[in-house]
Amino acid sequence: MTQDYIVSETTRVREDWSRRGKHWDQQAQAVAETAARFNQPLIDAAGIEPGHCVLDLATGAGEPGLTVAELVGETGRVAATDLVPEMMAGAKRRAQERGIANMEFRQADMCALPDDDATFDRATCRFGLMFVPEPERAAREVHRVLKPGGRAAFMVWGPRADTTMFTVFAEAVEQLWGADDPLIDFNTMSCLGDTGRLEEVLSAGGFANIEEKELRFSPKIPTDLEPWHAQIDMSLGPKLETVHPSERTRLEQAIKDGFSRYIVDGAYHMTAHVRIGVGEKA
Ligand SMILES: C[S@@+](CC[C@H](N)C(=O)[O-])C[C@H]1O[C@@H](n2cnc3c(N)ncnc32)[C@H](O)[C@@H]1O
Repeated sequence: MTQDYIVSETTRVREDWSRRGKHWDQQAQAVAETAARFNQPLIDAAGIEPGHCVLDLATGAGEPGLTVAELVGETGRVAATDLVPEMMAGAKRRAQERGIANMEFRQADMCALPDDDATFDRATCRFGLMFVPEPERAAREVHRVLKPGGRAAFMVWGPRADTTMFTVFAEAVEQLWGADDPLIDFNTMSCLGDTGRLEEVLSAGGFANIEEKELRFSPKIPTDLEPWHAQIDMSLGPKLETVHPSERTRLEQAIKDGFSRYIVDGAYHMTAHVRIGVGEKA
């Protein structure tokens, strides 16, 4: 992988997430309950305790950083870090609203962190590592800033076919707008989802005692709740800004039709597959 490719891909990712910032902020409350389910397994895997100094990477709209800041308490702290300030704008506001004073927000690429060696007790990253062109480089950098004995936990999506929301969305957008639209990307989020891939990345980063965990969820959502609305804005908000408003109605119908395959006894029987890679600094 050339340096030129890494620079241009990082620029593309930064621009993409800058466009998404306001949509993620607007939907943060709507997805809070679902998103909270992912926090505890990640926090448990990282072994976070009160008093820890924690690096949260790709903090985006705020999680798990906000939850971790409350957990580590006033003797601990959280350094929330994201490539894109627009993604963290809502997280900063929510921290203020919740009276969280032990959290700082920094704009940084997780491959080039502004921290000294051996600064943090723990590092978390929820659904961020997939967007880094060379994740091994991020793993090396996180390893550098952890204290000896420190632990990092990275959460990623499993293969796309295992998560109903993404399967249906990818089919719907392909049907409407084709597969090659630069404002649509349902491939990147599962690029680290195959068994063993996170292990490889952590190993290349220099981590020891590596473990890869698989989490599967099977939520049953009553059909009248139509669980896709917030995800439409978060995944496709920038695309919808470029098309006629009637396209949103067509998209919603295509997604509703896609979800109809999963109805059993008045509820959508959905699945989601998430993986966590954990490693320690010897
Ligand atoms: C799917 S969002 C995840 C946000 C949050 N952690 C969550 O789970 O809701 C992905 C985030 O990764 C950030 N990101 C992408 N590449 C990054 C990089 N190289 N360094 C730091 N953050 C990055 C994006 O800006 C975006 O905020």
